[in-house]
Amino acid sequence: VGARRLDGAGLAARLRAELAPRAARFEARHGRPPGLGIVLAGQRPESEIYVRNKLKAVADAGCRAELVRVDEHATIDECRRVVQRLNDDEATDAILVQSPLPPGMGADAERRLFESIASAKDVDGFHPENVGRLVQKRPTLVACTPLGCIELLEREQIAIAGCHAVVIGRSDIVGKPMALLLLHRDATVTICPSRTQDLPQIAANADILVAALGRPGFVTRDFVKPGATVVDVGINVLTDAAEVARFFAADSPKQRSFAQKGSVLIGDVHPNVDEVAGAITPVPGGVGPLTIAMVLRNTITAAELRAGGAAA
Ligand code: GUN
Repeated sequence: VGARRLDGAGLAARLRAELAPRAARFEARHGRPPGLGIVLAGQRPESEIYVRNKLKAVADAGCRAELVRVDEHATIDECRRVVQRLNDDEATDAILVQSPLPPGMGADAERRLFESIASAKDVDGFHPENVGRLVQKRPTLVACTPLGCIELLEREQIAIAGCHAVVIGRSDIVGKPMALLLLHRDATVTICPSRTQDLPQIAANADILVAALGRPGFVTRDFVKPGATVVDVGINVLTDAAEVARFFAADSPKQRSFAQKGSVLIGDVHPNVDEVAGAITPVPGGVGPLTIAMVLRNTITAAELRAGGAAA
């Protein structure tokens, strides 16, 4: 039988349909659509896909979407000038700098660029002011992936209050904001770096287990309490046949897909978790599409807030 699938792709499609009228109302009131600017440095294949999907979702809902490409070898100052131009542009309500940045920009480039975005336009919620507001549970723009995970749990009526939630991974992009959103909904939250001692035992206490560390199939069935809800944030590409064989049975759909395309996606959660979990997000079609829908929602929210109107 296996665990109940939490259909992120289906929910994302519904959210996008719900959000289009909000974008149209904004345009009717203000004479222009909500506008998103994306800064993409370099040409990493995964980032190209994420950015294309964000641009399409935002444009399909009737917003304006602008992509500004920056050369892989550009300096951080060149990137900052692009961000500044978008900060100054009245018709741009929302800005994001796609992560990761090219390694040549230096270790702290990401933080420096995230904090150069005007906090009112910070659609990713990565600006320290917005992170601070999230910590204090004040209204703010919140990171899109955690927001999508919460939306899915709530719409699937998975109880958060009073439960034990374990978040594996403590990145600024997913782990930390995820833990805060769960905490604000009265979960007891444990945040685990991957080096946590006895990680499987701690994870196996979780009613809600969030895997966000970026390692293919890391969370195996011994990490999961029977019946628990598992949210798989990882999106990893396998291209090695031996790796694929390690995770997927010979006649499985994933193996067939690998035979056709030469690559296959796997989350941070091992396929054998399906046998113990109560509910689980698939990869692909789980958290990924929800992140995209939340970029759209935050773009519209930022536009409404900038225009001084109530964020409906
Ligand atoms: N890279 C992976 N996830 C994200 C995200 O949510 N926003 C940005 N800007 N980059 C990312």
